[in-house]
Amino acid sequence: MRCLFTASLAVAGLAGTALAHRVSDGPVQHRKSLGFGPVHKHAVYRSTPYQVVTNAFTRMPVDSDPFQVARLFVEDILADQLSQSNTYKIRKDSYTDSNTGITHVYVRQLVNGLEVSDGDMNINIKDGMVLSYGNSFYAGSTPSPFIQAALDDDIRHPHGEFCDGLTEELEMRYTSFLASQGDQVVMGDSADEAMKHLTHLHHANCRFQDLPYNMAVQAESREIELRSALLQFIVAATPSDRVVNDILSDFDAHMEKMVEYSEVNHFAPSDEPAYIMVNNVPDTVNPVKAKLAYIQVPGKDDSVHLSLVWKFEVEMQDNWYEAAVSATAPHRIISVVDWASDAPVPIPSPEPETTATYNVFKFGINDPEEGKRTTEKENFDVLASPVGWHTLPYANDPSFRGVKLATKEFYRNTTTTWGNNVFAQENWEGQNSYIENYRPNAGPGKSFNYTYTPQETDKSDALEEAQKFINATVAQLFYTTNMVHDLYYRYGFDEVSGNFQQYNFGRGGEGNDAVIANAQDGSGYNNANFMTPPDGQNGRMRMYLWNTAIPYRDGDFEAGIVIHELSHGLSTRLTGGPLNSGCLPFGESGGMGEGWGDFLATTIRSTANYSDYAMGSWAANRAQGIRNYPYSLNETINPSTYKTLDKPGYFGVHAIGEVWAQILWVVSQGLIEKHGFTENLFPPAALANGTVPAGDFYRPSAGKKPLVPKHGNSLIFQLVLNAMKLQPCRPGFFEARDAIILADQQLTGGENFCTLWKGFSSKGLGPDAQVVLRTPWGGGVRTDDFEVPLACDA
Ligand SMILES: *[C@@H]1O[C@H](CO)[C@@H](O)[C@H](O)[C@H]1NC(C)=O
Ligand SMILES: *[C@@H]1O[C@H](CO)[C@@H](O)[C@H](O)[C@H]1NC(C)=O
Ligand SMILES: *[C@@H]1O[C@H](CO)[C@@H](O)[C@H](O)[C@H]1NC(C)=O
Ligand SMILES: *[C@@H]1O[C@H](CO)[C@@H](O)[C@H](O)[C@H]1NC(C)=O
Ligand SMILES: *[C@@H]1O[C@H](CO)[C@@H](O)[C@H](O)[C@H]1NC(C)=O
Ligand SMILES: *[C@@H]1O[C@H](CO)[C@@H](O)[C@H](O)[C@H]1NC(C)=O
Repeated sequence: MRCLFTASLAVAGLAGTALAHRVSDGPVQHRKSLGFGPVHKHAVYRSTPYQVVTNAFTRMPVDSDPFQVARLFVEDILADQLSQSNTYKIRKDSYTDSNTGITHVYVRQLVNGLEVSDGDMNINIKDGMVLSYGNSFYAGSTPSPFIQAALDDDIRHPHGEFCDGLTEELEMRYTSFLASQGDQVVMGDSADEAMKHLTHLHHANCRFQDLPYNMAVQAESREIELRSALLQFIVAATPSDRVVNDILSDFDAHMEKMVEYSEVNHFAPSDEPAYIMVNNVPDTVNPVKAKLAYIQVPGKDDSVHLSLVWKFEVEMQDNWYEAAVSATAPHRIISVVDWASDAPVPIPSPEPETTATYNVFKFGINDPEEGKRTTEKENFDVLASPVGWHTLPYANDPSFRGVKLATKEFYRNTTTTWGNNVFAQENWEGQNSYIENYRPNAGPGKSFNYTYTPQETDKSDALEEAQKFINATVAQLFYTTNMVHDLYYRYGFDEVSGNFQQYNFGRGGEGNDAVIANAQDGSGYNNANFMTPPDGQNGRMRMYLWNTAIPYRDGDFEAGIVIHELSHGLSTRLTGGPLNSGCLPFGESGGMGEGWGDFLATTIRSTANYSDYAMGSWAANRAQGIRNYPYSLNETINPSTYKTLDKPGYFGVHAIGEVWAQILWVVSQGLIEKHGFTENLFPPAALANGTVPAGDFYRPSAGKKPLVPKHGNSLIFQLVLNAMKLQPCRPGFFEARDAIILADQQLTGGENFCTLWKGFSSKGLGPDAQVVLRTPWGGGVRTDDFEVPLACDA
């Protein structure tokens, strides 16, 4: 094994070089990203998806305060555990869904007054009943304050296990590569792309696995404190060798340069513990937020231990990390989640005064090959965007931050791609600033009417040619992003559930978090990404040019890619609550984070005439797109089942996501067969008194809630969003499936119970599907189950 390990490392060098050369001529742009963490074997999600009858866990009078129900429930099921030093708090981002009436309560465990950062409960309550809940609270004995519960030697190290997993995977591939090549080892362009991808992952995540340790030994006399842990994290996280060398050559100087200060809440008292802020941290673009917390780490004997950690929020150019680093052994990174998600990385082996108008590819047209540009109106939806797309309060406008205003106006109206839901602009420099970047100004008529006629040029002029159409590009990105905002809003991604808006109109949730949407971002090619910090901080989307053809293809014009990216914001904010961005970190949950984006993008583009669809075909200039298979009902065209996740190529989140999206696609077609199809996924406009008419969209309900979409495609859209709110933090495929079945139970009384199960079971995700030896990064051995529950056998 050691010997092969060396071989893999040699491969790492070669493939790394190959990758470096490929940056400018695609097809894949790899961004460095860390992601690993402990397994939570003791976590449970309880719902009752195997029977049609709701089996409530707790029954209280129907008009009970849901938060009171939650407290009684927590104190009931944790009766043996809770004590003065082991308590909980109800998180302030808990909310009631205004359509379903379900209250989603998020609970965080507190031990010795510190948060257990992965001690989460989500409890779904309606009419005095707990419908379902997830629980990953630490259940062991409470350690004394500030004492490390377990010796470092007794606990397992998620970082090391992750790197060992990658190494094994690489060895397996390397061995089969050798077998296929005879004895001649020729690595290079012909090498399997997926292996290059793994090699890159290994290099990015594991290169400094031991180096910081040496540094800590050197610095043994140093008081173990925040800055040391932070600096060692930066060594592991930065993509820049220059920064690494700089830190390693003078650790102490960097330690001294970093300045800690506290974030004081001047305005109102808060029950949230204040963060320690740290300035001058190398390679970051904003001050780092830090706080002391506990995290659960499995012991060598599979028991669970609490480990004292520094929790950091580190915003870098290409990453936004939430990391937990041991506070007593600061070379140990225990968990790290990158709030940035890449797009589609190919796996090549296998009514205001003036309504704005835009010359764009209409919503529903996926890319320039699917239709022509037309003049489309600002989608004035009084519920989703009550003052339109080009208006926001001065107080929430970052370009007026710190400016003393001469005006008494509350709202500022713009004639640019700058509004309450999205700030869209070019970002040719690829840097972090956006306020001063160029964006088109359509003037008082707000007619964003720009030509888009890119010509064939020499390759050396292709970038300049693409940049000529920046007006059209930014206008399209602004339009698509706002349409997605309004559409998702109408299906329940609203202020309280954590959507992206500067101003929330007094409707709850945290504001000041519109999407920063960068067109033609200069930091890469052939990709896209989205960073989702918790509610109240701006999401950041970067769209790239694709150099897969001349003229270059502009990702901003492929709606599927933009929708995929924005859906990361949706699924991250809805899963585990708006203030917890760490609930879809990697493995099956991270994979589903990718899959929902593909599924929603594909559902948005689909029409009444059924068709298969591939992701990213236009941008990547490949008919089969950037996934292994197109989404299809035909098992020859897309053979994926749940067990496909066991295959060697199914390591990364995109491959896992593809399987989930394919399963959802098949499930959705079952609902469409039963309920028909609507060409318009947008619910009807609200009446002046705020009620939503049923139209042909909802089932007749005389204005009573919940409103139930009438057609198969709109219904699955609603169920998928509702289920994101019901599922636990860090869900696997089973929990996500069960949440969809519970969502139907709640919305329709369970009338699609068997239709849904039939769809899931046809792809192996039946009630007795199993996984053993599951690893956080997607490993494990799975068994498909193609049977439906007994109740559906008839
Ligand atoms: C800006 O827009 C708001 C909302 O549509 C409107 O009420 C206001 O009158 C407008 N202000 C100006 C100065 O045009
Ligand atoms: C857009 O501009 C073109 C020419 O530049 C013009 O022919 C067309 O009428 C304009 N469309 C709108 C809606 O103003
Ligand atoms: C973008 O539009 C503005 C008018 O809004 C125009 O002055 C400018 O030349 C256009 N930019 C390009 C690159 O065509
Ligand atoms: C669906 O196909 C039928 C028959 O081929 C055609 O008449 C109709 O226009 C198509 N509808 C859409 C929405 O493409
Ligand atoms: C499924 O796809 C294969 C390969 O394209 C094709 O030969 C077969 O006829 C298709 N099956 C159905 C039922 O359409
Ligand atoms: C809202 O207005 C509609 C149409 O005028 C009316 O039928 C409905 O009863 C009203 N609903 C409420 C809650 O006032």
